[in-house]
Amino acid sequence: GSVCSAVLIEAGHNVTIIDDFSTGNRDAVPSAAHLVEGELSQVIEETLSTHNINAVVHCAARSLVGESVSHPELYWHANVVTSLHLLDAMRAHDVRNLVFSSTAATYGEPDAVPILESAATAPTNPYGASKLAIDHMISSYASAHGLAATSLRYFNVAGAYGTIGENRAVETHLIPLILQVALGHREKIMIFGDDYATADGTAVRDYIHVRDLAEAHILALESNKVGSHRIYNLGSGDGYSVQQVISQVRETTGHPIPAELAPRREGDPATLIASSSKISHELGWTPQRTDLPTIVHDAWEFTRNLGPAAHSHPNYRP
Ligand code: UFG
Repeated sequence: GSVCSAVLIEAGHNVTIIDDFSTGNRDAVPSAAHLVEGELSQVIEETLSTHNINAVVHCAARSLVGESVSHPELYWHANVVTSLHLLDAMRAHDVRNLVFSSTAATYGEPDAVPILESAATAPTNPYGASKLAIDHMISSYASAHGLAATSLRYFNVAGAYGTIGENRAVETHLIPLILQVALGHREKIMIFGDDYATADGTAVRDYIHVRDLAEAHILALESNKVGSHRIYNLGSGDGYSVQQVISQVRETTGHPIPAELAPRREGDPATLIASSSKISHELGWTPQRTDLPTIVHDAWEFTRNLGPAAHSHPNYRP
């Protein structure tokens, strides 16, 4: 959300950010953005009434797969119910242009890779199910109420954009965790399983640079059409294994990155790779930074500049 805001501001747009900072960082709010602090469904009506809004980029969500399994109610409320409030408020104020952060988790365990948008959607956890429910909600509002919408199904977003990067209270993602090892904040990285049906036995993911992801939001916003809901995958079409990512971080940082084998993490598919050819053909999206060395380089520059502030989130839990 913060990188999209920064890029929209650079492109000359006025941006209003709504955030309750339950997981977001105040430092990541661009200084040129207007900030409305509060829970989305409580402040959306007033924000749309007073801020002259003509388009919405909806990234507000809970997004931890494990937490969604143990506390599904949090996901149905924060993701689905809140999004319904947002769509109703947009309808009431005749704001039609929407870009929604959807996810690869809507597909579940794929039958074939790379995953096309036409693949079956069979989420394996409430997080993915909640995002899929919102996609369905958006489709029905587009055809019945003239919403102009795009859902972008992110694969593994990584990298950083200048001073905006990954700095969460609870970190579960591979690249920021390995970088915490390089920074000396963690002793080692755990490799969750080496017996997958992949070349080196570790799980393969499709990493996309957050700056390229932001570009896709702008292309979608500029081309949305009333009554249409488009769905696009966003990835690189290339997969990297956990071992390959660790090797890249060793090369970029010069740190040995001790690694230890651990059991598989429940619910992790072996391989997730996106076909992004639909958005490339239809919107001309051409990622500029989505290669593993650039992603790791940019994430590392961000993380090491953060230094001791790396764990400054008020809700940080080691
Ligand atoms: N991994 C490790 N060790 C760690 C952390 C992760 O080996 O300490 C592995 C995971 O098992 C997985 C890979 O690294 O195989 C990537 O894991 P991440 O947690 O970084 O990302 P995921 O692929 O699990 O999750 C991403 C998004 C989710 C989304 C999901 C869709 O971050 O929001 O893809 O399947 F739901």
